[in-house]
Amino acid sequence: MVIRRGHEVFVYVNACPHTGMPLDFKPGRFLTADGALIQCSTHGAKFRIKDGFCVSGPCQGDSLKPVKTEIRDGHLYLL
Ligand code: FES
Repeated sequence: MVIRRGHEVFVYVNACPHTGMPLDFKPGRFLTADGALIQCSTHGAKFRIKDGFCVSGPCQGDSLKPVKTEIRDGHLYLL
């Protein structure tokens, strides 16, 4: 999953640390209603966008797996 905030881009594997299920049981829906956190739509775990840390839910204290990326000439590349 790729989340853009201004000039910053955050990329994580789309798998909840709780069960490994994709976070977007509702396709393409990754964020809370206010857009402040990533939310797993299966059991509701919430994660900080900046580092993928789970702040509430069944996997509290775990983190999403980050994906290494690089931005070159305005394009995002997975490393
Ligand atoms: S599968 Fe994501 S919170 Fe349970």
